[in-house]
Amino acid sequence: MRHPHKVLLLLLVSAHLAVFAREDKPGTALDLRIDSLLSRMTIEEKVGQLVLMTFRSKSAVDSTALSPALEAEVQAGKIGSLLNAVGADLTHRIQRVAVEDSRLGIPLLFGFDVIHGFRTVFPIPLAEASTWEPDLVRQSARVAAVEAAASGLHWTFAPMVDIARDPRWGRIAEGSGEDPFLGSLMAASRVMGFQGEDVGDQTSLVACPKHFAAYGGAEGGRDYNTVDISERTLREVYLPPFEAAVKAGAATIMCSFNEIGGVPSTANSHLLTDILRGEWGFQGFVVSDWGSVAELQEHGIAATHEDAALLALTAGVDMDMEGNAYHDYCMELVQSGKLSVEVLDKAVRRVLRVKFMLGLFENPYRSASSDREQKTILSPSHRQLARDVARRSLVLLKNDAGLLPVREGTGLIAVVGPLADDSESILGPWHAAGRAQDAISVLRGLRARAGKRILYAKGCEIDGNSTGGFAEALDAARKADVVIAVLGEASSMSGEAASRATLGLPGVQEQLLDEILKAKKPVAVVLMNGRPLAIPGIHERATAVLETWFAGVEGGNAVADVLFGDVNPSGKLPATFPYSVGQIPLYYNHKNTGRPPVDSVKWNSKYIDSPSIPLYPFGYGLSYTRFVYRSLTLEKLRISPGEHLKVSVEVLNAGDRQGEEVVQLYIRDLAGSVTRPVKELRGFVKISLRPGEARTVNFILTPASLSMLNPAMKRVVEPGAFLVQVGGNSRDVLTGRFEVSGD
Ligand code: BGC
Repeated sequence: MRHPHKVLLLLLVSAHLAVFAREDKPGTALDLRIDSLLSRMTIEEKVGQLVLMTFRSKSAVDSTALSPALEAEVQAGKIGSLLNAVGADLTHRIQRVAVEDSRLGIPLLFGFDVIHGFRTVFPIPLAEASTWEPDLVRQSARVAAVEAAASGLHWTFAPMVDIARDPRWGRIAEGSGEDPFLGSLMAASRVMGFQGEDVGDQTSLVACPKHFAAYGGAEGGRDYNTVDISERTLREVYLPPFEAAVKAGAATIMCSFNEIGGVPSTANSHLLTDILRGEWGFQGFVVSDWGSVAELQEHGIAATHEDAALLALTAGVDMDMEGNAYHDYCMELVQSGKLSVEVLDKAVRRVLRVKFMLGLFENPYRSASSDREQKTILSPSHRQLARDVARRSLVLLKNDAGLLPVREGTGLIAVVGPLADDSESILGPWHAAGRAQDAISVLRGLRARAGKRILYAKGCEIDGNSTGGFAEALDAARKADVVIAVLGEASSMSGEAASRATLGLPGVQEQLLDEILKAKKPVAVVLMNGRPLAIPGIHERATAVLETWFAGVEGGNAVADVLFGDVNPSGKLPATFPYSVGQIPLYYNHKNTGRPPVDSVKWNSKYIDSPSIPLYPFGYGLSYTRFVYRSLTLEKLRISPGEHLKVSVEVLNAGDRQGEEVVQLYIRDLAGSVTRPVKELRGFVKISLRPGEARTVNFILTPASLSMLNPAMKRVVEPGAFLVQVGGNSRDVLTGRFEVSGD
């Protein structure tokens, strides 16, 4: 049995925190080096360290050399970091300009969006979260770092740790879903994976948790839209993964595009200075999002780009990404006395510290080389890990009559659907250096497993109206014993600037399903998508449904492993699936309201034309075996506020196959000084059981896990009754009750 993840997190986090804090004590060798460098820098060179620009090539013909304009800026020390310059040879060439041709030879920092793998593309983060295995996710981030570092990168704009309660928002794909507890564990694990034991290690990348903060709270799920949430919701829901990432040692943070209650994050000193640095002790630097400093003018909080630069820098944004505001105006701001040199120096120090920590002054090229790229990138062990993560991320949503796994002895298998042979979409959005030619499509994975028994017909496009391929698909279904329909979204339909107002299958895919159902064969729908969908029709009509998200470079093999039963699915949903878009926002840790829904009564909180419950709840996912929960036991029924409480449950594998189960523990504080959610995840553990085997799983509820923010926003454990709820998802739980005494 693996350890309950809360304990693990605390141990790992404190270890990393210690390393970062030690290096930052004033008067250390590192500080003296920074001081000495700073004393030799001109204002222009200082501003340069706060400028991050995107790589622009010389020309279309010579795409692997820096454009002359950028080269001149690097030489003049006016640019301190670059993004999107990738590859050992290219980064070497550019770095040489910085260290050999600029006056002070300060090395550049190379950043890139390495979100879920580099060339070995892993499942999208939402899928990785479906494994509920933080340590596996740490390993995936480590592989990404090793490959990216070999290609000359130092810094990843990841992990994306935004909590998302609205699946219309396309960027839900990049994060860990709707829950702050699961999200915090994943955030910390990814930071630890990217940064390794020490960011100075040649195979480590500096992490950049983003987008600080509450970017996922955009009204209507429309990307970049206004966020208006309470300080409580900010602190209880959106901030915990950032705090966990900072505690895990994250050396940089990216602020978000959105405003919160009238103040854009890029100008938000409450977030960037009071909370991040004051409360959490963050020592690294803050980078803006792409152009978000200049966008303060569009937001209507700065009259000019010059004002925007002043606002952002004084609020705590140290580096301006591709916006030109710092580049164009900081010099003038200092000269006119509007910006003090102290504020400028503080930001420059933070940036230089990260460069020193990376060891760039000792070795500006680190160990990047084309030789190393060849050895590490897409290595068999990296691909193997990608396959393992992928198969553990698949979530079985329905499996009537045990249709899956496909039985031995099944004859022909029809594979239909526009995503079956799509090796581009399976990589998902933000797939870094990933290439479709390296990816195993579902069709390829199935053919590798079942060879000539596979009949393939695409049926239709992902989007569009043509039903021209329907007849061929129906024909294949008629010839087969079973149909596998690979349906869903193109990868471009989620990610940044890809919000959707509808959450059904695009185009004529649902009609394609109707068409093949005419063959009266059992149909397993394999879904590929970057968000929870509203698909009650698919649920009703298909015999089995397997959610595969965008499963990465080994996705097709992983899907075949699960469909044929070599691997028993164990993924659980990290976000709620609604019946309809109209129910959104729909999330498990909601408040009870004064009138919780009761179907038979009119005057309560529900819809008259839709269920109020989800189609698939948070934490849900089936297995090829069946788990039974029994004997929920609380060691005590009354504890004092400082005490721990042991909670045990017995889990039995009542089926006939070995399987893994994520045992989940939720609490509910029944009456607090402020209202509390009906459930809050406070622990989980993934266990493996043989057929017939039963195991007692123990959780320890700590004072921290029972605590809440009181009306004064102080973290306290309040006396009163609590429910503890344990089960294999957030809906089907065994419930116990205990009291926290008033003494
Ligand atoms: C995105 C960030 C990303 C940056 C650099 C922005 O548009 O919001 O998440 O890191 O671009 O690519």
